[in-house]
Amino acid sequence: MNNFVYQNPTKIIFGDGQVKQLTTELEHYDKKVLLVYGGGSIKRNGVYDDVVNELKKIDAEIYELSGVESNPRLTTVYEGIEMCKNDKIDFILAVGGGSVIDCSKAIAAGAKYEGDVWDIVTRKVKVADALPFGTVLTLAATGSEMNPNSVITNWETNEKYGWNSPHVFPKFSIMDPTYTMSVPKEHTVYGIVDMMSHVFEQYFHHTPNTPITDRMCEGLLRTVIETAPKLVDNLDSYDYRETILYAGTLALNNTLQVGLRGDWASHNIEHAVSAVYDIPHAGGLAILLPNWMMHVLDENIQRFKQLAIRVFDVDPTGKDDREVAIEGIEKLRMFWLSIGAPERLADYEIDDSQLEIMADKAMINGEFGNFKKLNKKDVLTILQMSL
Ligand code: NZQ
Ligand code: ZN
Repeated sequence: MNNFVYQNPTKIIFGDGQVKQLTTELEHYDKKVLLVYGGGSIKRNGVYDDVVNELKKIDAEIYELSGVESNPRLTTVYEGIEMCKNDKIDFILAVGGGSVIDCSKAIAAGAKYEGDVWDIVTRKVKVADALPFGTVLTLAATGSEMNPNSVITNWETNEKYGWNSPHVFPKFSIMDPTYTMSVPKEHTVYGIVDMMSHVFEQYFHHTPNTPITDRMCEGLLRTVIETAPKLVDNLDSYDYRETILYAGTLALNNTLQVGLRGDWASHNIEHAVSAVYDIPHAGGLAILLPNWMMHVLDENIQRFKQLAIRVFDVDPTGKDDREVAIEGIEKLRMFWLSIGAPERLADYEIDDSQLEIMADKAMINGEFGNFKKLNKKDVLTILQMSL
């Protein structure tokens, strides 16, 4: 392992009925609260009413920013920043999935910055301060509830970038599995693919002696693989929702990448694809990641072989290392297909007409990927394999 420092200040409040803890958590802050949410799911499933009831108990002054898009847009971030500045908001409460939380992080940082928040998203400027914010998570997927990352799309220029800052860890995240029960099958599957992809991004590295994080990754993957098909058939199961909800947080709260550098190339390519086509993030990952694996396999066959045997139960008897490794990748592809994830860009009616544009967007900061550095030719190959 490399030397490391690990600190995660987000308080997780997990379980049925935990929304009641909101009043206690908000005691520490002044009471002008900006409630940020998406396209209306929280109004249909009762989460909005639960949250507002709690806020009323402490006489919070509630301001609302609704309609945050999946793949949240810069224009909505601007709207939120303006509200924070004009109405002198003290605290932001994000109620929703990763998109709502990521948007809230950008609002929190932008509200304390005099310039254009796009400077922060494009990493030209480092965040010096941010408004405090908390989350009530409604969708298991990104891990945004316990990490300092945010991904914002500028739809005018078709750019989608991730940024992060220690100033945008949520102060707390309330995670009630019952709040995720209304997530439809499609988005439940996307969430599962996203959290598994986060584990893969951190599993493929070249750092020696990482047995603890290896086994943590493998255990998480095996648990998700075991639970996901049951959840997809029983969307109302508290137990399966609970397991998947916690798995999503652990997959990207940075514990899996202590002492090593994850790869993250597939995420970079996916962000370029969804910047142009606005497809669901994990739909893109389900298509791209197995092809990235095939493309980079020879960088370290042993690692792929380990994954195949330990996670996908591939029997190595009578097979060479490469065969075992490839069988593991094929098992992953089949697993994602079996739960209903897409397999080809054609599933989103994406053809080869914009491949160059997507590759250029992925290359905006030059070669990328820590397991294997990818150049434009590599990106085009992976996109071609994904058509
Ligand atoms: O907008 P509403 O009406 O709330 O509906 C949402 C949305 O349509 C719906 N939904 C959420 N909770 C629900 C629900 N529907 C019914 N019942 C509920 N309880 O689900 C849809 C998708 O929500 P969204 O927040 O967009 O999904 P997700 O959590 O997957 O977030 C995706 C965004 O996160 C970024 C992605 O790029 C994408 O922009 N990522 C953020 C990361 C991070 N911050 O660490 C890492 C990830 O790799 C990812 O890049
Ligand atoms: Zn992701």
